Amino acid sequence: MEYSFRNCTLEDFDFLFELKKENFKWYVDKIWGWKDDDQKERLQQDLNEHLSHKRIIMVNNKSIGVYVVHTTEDGDLFINEISILAEYQNKGIGRKILEEQLKENHKKGIRTILQVFKHNPAKKLYEQLGFKIYGETETHYQMENVNDFMINKEKIFPIGIGTWKINYQDNKDIEALFHSYKLGQNYLSLYMLYEDGNIVKSLKSFIEKCGRENLFISVNIEPTVNEKSDIEKQLNEYLDILNLDYVDNLQLHSPKFTKLPLLDTYFEMKRLQEIGKTRYLGISNCSLEQLKEINTNVKLDFFEGVYNLECKMNESIGILDYCKKNDIEFVAYQPLRRNRTQLKNYELLVELSQKYNKTQNQIILNWIMKEKKINVLIKSTNCYRIDENIKSLDFEMEENDYKRLNDFNNEEFENIKIDWDNVGDGIRIDQLPNQF
Ligand SMILES: NC(=O)c1ccc[n+]([C@@H]2O[C@H](COP(=O)([O-])OP(=O)(O)OC[C@H]3O[C@@H](n4cnc5c(N)ncnc54)[C@H](OP(=O)(O)O)[C@@H]3O)[C@@H](O)[C@H]2O)c1
Repeated sequence: MEYSFRNCTLEDFDFLFELKKENFKWYVDKIWGWKDDDQKERLQQDLNEHLSHKRIIMVNNKSIGVYVVHTTEDGDLFINEISILAEYQNKGIGRKILEEQLKENHKKGIRTILQVFKHNPAKKLYEQLGFKIYGETETHYQMENVNDFMINKEKIFPIGIGTWKINYQDNKDIEALFHSYKLGQNYLSLYMLYEDGNIVKSLKSFIEKCGRENLFISVNIEPTVNEKSDIEKQLNEYLDILNLDYVDNLQLHSPKFTKLPLLDTYFEMKRLQEIGKTRYLGISNCSLEQLKEINTNVKLDFFEGVYNLECKMNESIGILDYCKKNDIEFVAYQPLRRNRTQLKNYELLVELSQKYNKTQNQIILNWIMKEKKINVLIKSTNCYRIDENIKSLDFEMEENDYKRLNDFNNEEFENIKIDWDNVGDGIRIDQLPNQF
């Protein structure tokens, strides 16, 4: 449902009083007792003092709610109130307003805070949006939203669900994905190449059960694009199999998968974005030059590339930096190098693992997400390891330890030649993390 805002005036008093009564009388009665006169006096005083903080929420030219925010002395954005008439509740309006607000605040790096009556069911919505309790009074929970891993455009959990080698015939694997989802993982990355599309097919009911709107679905154009129409055909295949109207991100798995000039491929993908079949566009496994060429002509939102402790090529060739400067979210695949890094027992990882009482993989993931501020894509269908990976977000390391991880280099990876132009000279970039 579409909404808009207008400024609040003193003439809104009657509407605001009825709204307040409808939404808060129950709680006030329970705690202090509700008296109309007393509440009217409080509202009048509030309006006199804070009129400029209030905006009236409108739907079809009708006042249906109020949204009140102000900036605190610490620079946080305090959401004082978001109230909507009962008949307009549960239509996604409140959620949309908060999502927009959080998107703006995350972009600016602003903490968002609010308080909610302890019995108010709205607390659940706030939790879904990433608010966490940081304090409480006798009557309220104080909640904050400081998730600095969120992608500017969306609320995306920093650990995405990878799907390579999921056993699509084993229900236990799909059940494990539900475990990931319940813990907040909402970025689902799909590739038609994996198991001839059978993995994509097996995830239809997973998506339906999670609720399409609760997932961010990224799909890959692959394998070959011979002509322009192949792109829409490939996208339609995902949409048909999964019974979706749109995907969230559409990306070329690798420039080597298109026989068209790269830009023509992206002009066509842009057209698919304009007609609403995808919300964002991305690219995976391309060189810095290719990335720049596309992004200068067609705005990209995502770059999916290899990044882990041993293999930092996408950083050393400047892709990471270009993404940061151009508002492109870098999503790191193979952050654990399929557990290969841990098995090497590098001195530094062993030391930090003991120091922080975390596994080596948790040290790696914590460094990538907290220090490098990169989201990761991990495949795990083991609930124990899913928990382990998510718990890598629960701690901080000392600045100097992050620096040592930043400086860590594995010489084995340094001199590998990458075949960027797909001419058979060197190895494909997506094969890089599988070396050694
Ligand atoms: N764009 C591209 O070219 C590209 C290339 C490669 C990958 N990807 C995407 O990125 C995703 C992640 O990459 P990946 O699956 O190759 O590698 P990965 O996520 O680094 O590693 C996955 C492997 O590690 C195991 N694992 C996960 N967490 C673990 C932990 N805490 N401790 C020990 N083992 C753990 C998993 O086994 P269990 O399931 O048994 O836990 C699985 O065998 C893929 O699934 C795919 O979606 C994209």
